[in-house]
Amino acid sequence: MADSRQNPLIIVVHGPNLNMLGKREPEHYGSRTLEDINASLHAKAAELGLRISTFQSNHEGEIVASIQKGVGRARGLIINPAAFTHTSVAIRDAVLILDVPTIEVHLSNIYQRESFRHRSFIADIATGQISGLGASGYLYALEALAQLIT
Ligand code: DQA
Repeated sequence: MADSRQNPLIIVVHGPNLNMLGKREPEHYGSRTLEDINASLHAKAAELGLRISTFQSNHEGEIVASIQKGVGRARGLIINPAAFTHTSVAIRDAVLILDVPTIEVHLSNIYQRESFRHRSFIADIATGQISGLGASGYLYALEALAQLIT
């Protein structure tokens, strides 16, 4: 069997309050927990011949550090910056530094919600954005990255 340690690494970054998925506003975010979503991503990554590393934080600086840690190691990024989507130049700059194909994911359709959620500091520098497809959006993002980098 091939050595999966050689598979391209994708980093998956989840922003603030996403640790509360399952309990948090299920009408917007569904009933699946973050652990459940990460487990599906690990299974899909193995199918696609990719490796993933997942990270969640409620702190902007920790998110920046987790993206910086990918420099020279990660071949792709999946990021749901959550509320920082709409505010964070620091996360945008970290994504620019990482400089790999990037898919921005939102569980809810941010364009059908309050106007302050319509603006994303990541959208124009991301390769693509998936918004409103629930937890499946992360799996579609991984499929897209598999095509983009292999
Ligand atoms: C979110 C949408 C954001 O506006 C919100 O602040 C979140 C989650 C989503 O996945 O739909 O925390 O990124």
